Amino acid sequence: MNLKIAVLPGDGIGPEVILQAKKTLYAISVAYNHEFIFEDALIGATAIDKTRNPLPEQTLNLCLNTDAVLFGAIGNPKYDNNPDAKIRPEQGLLKLRKELGLYANIRPVKPYKNLLDVSPIKKEVIEGTDFVIYRELSSGSYYGVKELNEEGTKASDICEYSEEEIFRITHLAFKAAQTRRKKVTLVDKANVLETSRLWRKTVKKIALNYPDITLECLYIDNVAMQIITDPKQFDVILTENLFGDILSDEACAIMGSIGLMASASIGNNNALFEPIHGSYPKAKGKDIANPIASIVSAAMLLEHFGLEKEAKKVYEAIEKAIEYKVVTIDLNSGSRFGTNDVGDFISNVILSKDDLYFKNDNVQIGQSTIV
Ligand code: IPM
Ligand code: MN
Repeated sequence: MNLKIAVLPGDGIGPEVILQAKKTLYAISVAYNHEFIFEDALIGATAIDKTRNPLPEQTLNLCLNTDAVLFGAIGNPKYDNNPDAKIRPEQGLLKLRKELGLYANIRPVKPYKNLLDVSPIKKEVIEGTDFVIYRELSSGSYYGVKELNEEGTKASDICEYSEEEIFRITHLAFKAAQTRRKKVTLVDKANVLETSRLWRKTVKKIALNYPDITLECLYIDNVAMQIITDPKQFDVILTENLFGDILSDEACAIMGSIGLMASASIGNNNALFEPIHGSYPKAKGKDIANPIASIVSAAMLLEHFGLEKEAKKVYEAIEKAIEYKVVTIDLNSGSRFGTNDVGDFISNVILSKDDLYFKNDNVQIGQSTIV
């Protein structure tokens, strides 16, 4: 398969982790005879510094004209600490999502069996967890009218949803449930919010077309608790933009590190793949950031194009890195391995024909040809 992929490294650790995702995709292209052409472009604070625009026209045009976008991370403390900043890095990502029509953000949560002890939650609670969050990505309070009065003392963010916006992601969530354990949990705050009541009404109507799927509707405050006290009960979680943003960071506690979770953002004509973590500015340039989330986002890209075997190979290589403890310090505080080592290991596993090669004692810097 030939794919043209726009690569947006962004800020902080973005460039370091995305390099590992690129290595992975390159290894897959060699091992499975595909051609992936990468083209880099600016976004976020890096783009503001160079062009004064968090999403330069050139970047948007590239993304509109490629098969997929691989995204690193966005954000810079210089803007976070300045509430008066008019131009912000995050605007780049939000505008890109809107312009590409990416309405569904899909975030799988399935802890690795060799990392169950890394999570702060008890092993018995998280073992066997396997759910996926379908977060609406193009509407809600993220995109409603924002106002601040002249004195700067009163502000509002309007949360608006149309039936049509609820409709399209709901169908995706139900279709996903059909290939899984056949349960959808709609997460809302229908006891308080009008938008939530519209979600409930619309989703219940759509559910009638999917008699094989069980629909349950729960309040966000309740799910915020249950997602960590009893995560195994969930299969597909369907929710609006802001609730999905919050729940997915919370779900990282199940995985053991925010450096492990990735997402696919899907629209009718475009798709973007990114880790869910931010730009982690403190780690920038230190070769300590976990690249697995970014590599998982590359695997999700492969799945999106139907390259199932290739994606499976990436997941297996990630599992091998975890099994042999070729991981960054967030997963093993004594680790000698850095961002690049993890990326090299994973792409070498993909390229290696000989499984036995990766004997435990072989996996050491300097001793193995994999590093
Ligand atoms: C995410 C991020 C973004 C969001 C930020 C960077 C705007 O937190 O992808 O979850 O809130 O959607
Ligand atoms: Mn987030």
